[in-house]
Amino acid sequence: LEIGAGTGLVSVSTLKPYVLFHAFCLLVPAEQERSDQTVARQKWVPNVICRINKDIYHYVGQDIVIYESIDSFGAMMWPAALALCSFLDNNRDTVDLRGKEVLELGAGTGLVAIVASLLGAAVTATDLPEILGNLQANLMRNTRGLCRHTPQVAPLSWGYDLESTYPSSVYRYDYVLAADVVYHHDFLDELLVTMKYFCKPGTTLIWANKVRFESDLVFTENFKKAFHTSLLVEEGEMKIFMAMSREEDEGDRNRLSRPTDCRLKA
Ligand SMILES: C[S@@+](CC[C@H](N)C(=O)[O-])C[C@H]1O[C@@H](n2cnc3c(N)ncnc32)[C@H](O)[C@@H]1O
Repeated sequence: LEIGAGTGLVSVSTLKPYVLFHAFCLLVPAEQERSDQTVARQKWVPNVICRINKDIYHYVGQDIVIYESIDSFGAMMWPAALALCSFLDNNRDTVDLRGKEVLELGAGTGLVAIVASLLGAAVTATDLPEILGNLQANLMRNTRGLCRHTPQVAPLSWGYDLESTYPSSVYRYDYVLAADVVYHHDFLDELLVTMKYFCKPGTTLIWANKVRFESDLVFTENFKKAFHTSLLVEEGEMKIFMAMSREEDEGDRNRLSRPTDCRLKA
């Protein structure tokens, strides 16, 4: 139930993009009709333009059809997703995903999760609840009958209380993937905590990001302090980092009372 629905935008925003598109076609004439009747409000014009795109990408020998929309950040394709897909597709020896348990953070439209699934991984693609409908549709459309492991979709909001929703005794991953999850938002601390939570000893985290803001550089410094890191790719502002937990070192230090060397250097 939406109280005081007005144009219906709030209700509509919970719908999938293709439903959204048709809903806006219905909404705009209704709004115009209303403003015809209310002369005093004629200056007010809705400034919402909703555009649905269908793009085709090509990785792992497959055409991958992705539905996108400008409706939200998570419904758009971001450049780091393309960089990470190219990297995974072209470096299968370095990162062998066959049979591996993979978690993706902030999966958005799902291209990275699709490519990882086509490469043989058992993928769980996560994002905020409102992103999951389009994500699931993209995943199903592009992996059905093609992958050994059907990719899963799950809600995951970055934060401090992950043990209650993703108990570490149950959820362990070989790889954690993240593309363009660092941009101008207020959850960078929560994101780093989430990365540390899932990147346990034995897990490899691969983070692709286009550097845009000063805050991206601050995050990168904190990321390097939190993990053993190596820079896999650097092309202009696009960087792909590989990271591993420092917990093993802490465990070793506690056991052996001596510091250990970094296994990977940035
Ligand atoms: C810039 S988009 C990148 C999407 C996709 N990885 C790509 O590269 O195309 C950032 C993604 O992070 C998700 N996100 C933002 N804040 C989040 C949060 N607090 N918890 C979980 N996901 C979040 C967004 O919904 C979105 O899908």
